[in-house]
Amino acid sequence: MNKLLPTALITTLMLTLAACSGEAPEQSQASNPPDSMSASKKSMPEDPDLKSLYTQSCFSCHGTGAGGAPRTGTSEWDSRMAKGMDTLIDNTINGYNGMPPLGMCMDCGEEEFEALILFMAGQQ
Ligand code: HEC
Repeated sequence: MNKLLPTALITTLMLTLAACSGEAPEQSQASNPPDSMSASKKSMPEDPDLKSLYTQSCFSCHGTGAGGAPRTGTSEWDSRMAKGMDTLIDNTINGYNGMPPLGMCMDCGEEEFEALILFMAGQQ
């Protein structure tokens, strides 16, 4: 009889703890950078075709800034856009320092590159 009470208490405690930790993932999602970013700028193209090209290629570097890639939806694109779209498309096709030729998108043509660049620069 004496042993039963502590067990019940511990069980209640553990259930309370479990309930608390159940809320934790929700909280960390709220402070997720891509989520808060999408509040002001889009982090994914709305067009489904463009979105799949973007997620399969550009996103791996431009979504994270890997290797110094200008990040999608940030002002890091301002100095790039200043070069003019023709230069940017040329550099995308031929490669540019850490930027691999075609941005690893073998199915992309100039039109797709232009749309992807405009999207990443937050201009579409
Ligand atoms: C493997 C990583 C990687 C992928 C994938 C990638 N990029 Fe890049 N990109 C970079 C890096 C790194 C830079 C910065 C290069 C520098 O300025 O030295 C860059 C720069 C650029 C620039 C600016 C070029 C300039 O003249 O300043 C454009 C435009 C660009 N990327 C477009 C794209 C597009 C469009 C895609 C998808 C089709 C893509 N990138 C995919 C890494 C990547």
